[in-house]
Amino acid sequence: MNSTPSRQLALQGAAVILVLSFAWPYFGLTAETLPWQQTSLAIGAVALIFATLTRQPWWWRIIHAGFMPLIWVTQSLAIDPIWFLVAFILLLLVYRGALSGQVPLYLSNPQTVTALAELLAERGPSRFLDLGAGVGSTTVPLADHFPDSHFTGVENAPLTWLVGRYFCIGRPNIHWRWEDMWQVKLNDFDVVYAFLSPVPMPRLWEKIQAEMKPGSLFISNSFPVPGTAPCQVIEVDCTPPRPLYCYKT
Ligand SMILES: C[S@@+](CC[C@H](N)C(=O)[O-])C[C@H]1O[C@@H](n2cnc3c(N)ncnc32)[C@H](O)[C@@H]1O
Repeated sequence: MNSTPSRQLALQGAAVILVLSFAWPYFGLTAETLPWQQTSLAIGAVALIFATLTRQPWWWRIIHAGFMPLIWVTQSLAIDPIWFLVAFILLLLVYRGALSGQVPLYLSNPQTVTALAELLAERGPSRFLDLGAGVGSTTVPLADHFPDSHFTGVENAPLTWLVGRYFCIGRPNIHWRWEDMWQVKLNDFDVVYAFLSPVPMPRLWEKIQAEMKPGSLFISNSFPVPGTAPCQVIEVDCTPPRPLYCYKT
């Protein structure tokens, strides 16, 4: 079942319309004030039913059930609206990638970095690119481990980039770039690493095939290229599983 954000918006909207189309006339006719607490709970219950009937993933069902009741709780706390603006701006500065390309921030773990280090050790000095480099959780430890290799991290979320920039201070073999990964030419690199989401993988694979030099290596953490068999899959010892899908160009 399709679970795109627009579908979730439609489900929640349908629950709001359904409940309010009964509640408003009823409380209007009886000349009573609409009880927002009960109404928000009813919307949550109806949204949960809709999400269950349309077989949405379990986390979406929880979000649907809790969304309106939480809005009611939040508004009853009477928080100064400026804090919502501040929170929104902070989220935008960190999660810009989720908004524009459905790629949020989550970090590679140390086990993944160890597996990548083993791959790089086999290849010898490399020019390594992390597409969507986050705060440098991959680039920084690898750069320390391989002083003879050169590492580039490309990140487009401003706050995330800034934190990563701080970690790169004093590491001359890292080039930390604030840039859209789609604008980066890949032919300068012989190993490209990406930990993104399923959404950009088809487009990214086209870019890799068009730009990476023959004999280069593309490694995707967790998300395989659809319809293309990897030359190697490395099972990293971690939970949840985060296989590394390797493709030779
Ligand atoms: C899942 S995180 C991976 C972070 C890091 N590579 C790691 O393994 O720890 C994906 C990152 O890609 C960034 N991102 C998403 N779209 C991007 C784009 N078009 N250009 C540059 N970075 C992007 C996000 O902001 C996020 O920080």
